[in-house]
Amino acid sequence: MTEDPSAVSGAAPAAATAAPAAAARRPLVPRPARAGRAETLRFAATHTVPAFVRGAFHLRPRVVAAYAAVGQQGWSAATLRAMRARHGGAPVEVRGLSGPLLVLLDQRDVRQFYELPVRTLALDAPDKYKGLSLLEPTGVICSHGDTREERRRINDEVLAASRPLHPSCREFQALLDEEAPALTRDAELDFPRLRRTAARIGRRMVLGDAAAGDEELARWLLALREEANWMRMRKGRAAAAEALYARAAARVEEYAARAEPHTLAALARSHPAAAGPDAAALDPVGQAHHWLLALDAVAPTVARTLLLLAAHPAEQDAARAEVEAGPPELPRLRACVQETLRLYPVVPDLVRVTREETEWRGVRYPAGTAVLVPALFHQRDPEQVPAAHRFVPARWLEAEAAGDIRMAPFSHGGGRCPGEHLGVFTAAGLVAAVLRGHRVAGGRPALDPSLALPGILASAGIRLTLAPR
Ligand code: HEM
Repeated sequence: MTEDPSAVSGAAPAAATAAPAAAARRPLVPRPARAGRAETLRFAATHTVPAFVRGAFHLRPRVVAAYAAVGQQGWSAATLRAMRARHGGAPVEVRGLSGPLLVLLDQRDVRQFYELPVRTLALDAPDKYKGLSLLEPTGVICSHGDTREERRRINDEVLAASRPLHPSCREFQALLDEEAPALTRDAELDFPRLRRTAARIGRRMVLGDAAAGDEELARWLLALREEANWMRMRKGRAAAAEALYARAAARVEEYAARAEPHTLAALARSHPAAAGPDAAALDPVGQAHHWLLALDAVAPTVARTLLLLAAHPAEQDAARAEVEAGPPELPRLRACVQETLRLYPVVPDLVRVTREETEWRGVRYPAGTAVLVPALFHQRDPEQVPAAHRFVPARWLEAEAAGDIRMAPFSHGGGRCPGEHLGVFTAAGLVAAVLRGHRVAGGRPALDPSLALPGILASAGIRLTLAPR
């Protein structure tokens, strides 16, 4: 970590007011950049509170629509830009809802964030943990230490994290082919239909065909997410949520026991860890709760990608040409999905907690410090990303794109999403299914490609007009 005084925070060095000679003898002690009271209030009002009200685990559609209408994303970006300018790009310590939070506004620090091992910079930050532990108490994202490493290995292997195409991709493609016709039955495709279809696909991929129509399980999981949004602030609700989780977990186990061998639950059940001495603690099948949650990101991503393609006909033509040519990886279509996720990430803020003392630009922070990378702000930052507010899928076809830390829809480093390829495969597969026989002739809300794209695109209100080719 740098000791370079030029990298020290924008705040004046401690010795700056002493006599010049004394100052020259004393080493420069970098001081933390701390947000003042007005800055803290502005950060809370434009960033933290809206994120909480929107819902961290289940987006509240009306709130999202209201934020889209007033341009809340622009408020947050303006606050973060002003903080960066005021503190010279240094990490800024802000008083958060539950303690100090270090906000990283410069790529140098963001790089360090991704490079630090997860044992030092852990994913189970307290606020996140409070919610996630209701949804997936044994999930990798809720774990730390050796248990986390083991669970991460199970996730990596079952999800085939390092492979662009999952070993079950043929079976997954077959079920996409079976379910996708529901999307193009009418001349208009609205979000509820897209969500229902994607949810069936998600349940079939994770739990098998028997789970395809299990709306009851879907309701239970939704109720848990709604409760998780409150981050255990509603006293007396935790016991009911834990009982509901137990019911959902038993249902998931039942499906896993009879799931087809290509499904994720069956792969988890036959993972060596499931037969090992720590099977109960590691809970390979229990990872399915996160997989179901994560696959719910597919429907909004597909809706936004199709809407963006409607507004960019040349991109749509190129994507369709690729679909017709038929390479299984569909690189161009995947690039469209990745670009959609850059503009409208599912995880707009990456939050971690330090498990030991860390140093940021020469300033030491104790273990237990929460650290935030506002990923959406960075990947839409015109100072860093060319054409930041435009839909430019080709940027993802560059050789270095997957490792470019300015863009992080799936994060980077040890906490990077192990389901990235599977998520993009599923979303690109559904977009391909629509484009195969149809042109997306228009949609709501209307997007003007000659203007900067809106900061928020509320998926619940998206409607697409399809015309047969
Ligand atoms: C469009 C799709 C998806 C997006 C945008 C996405 C994004 C992300 C991001 C940003 C993270 C890091 C979260 C953090 O640092 O707090 C993450 C973690 C994770 N994702 Fe995804 N994801 C997607 C799909 C999937 C799918 C399909 C699966 C599995 C079936 C999955 C499984 C996971 C798991 C297990 C983690 C936790 C990793 C860990 O704790 O090390 N994701 N995802």
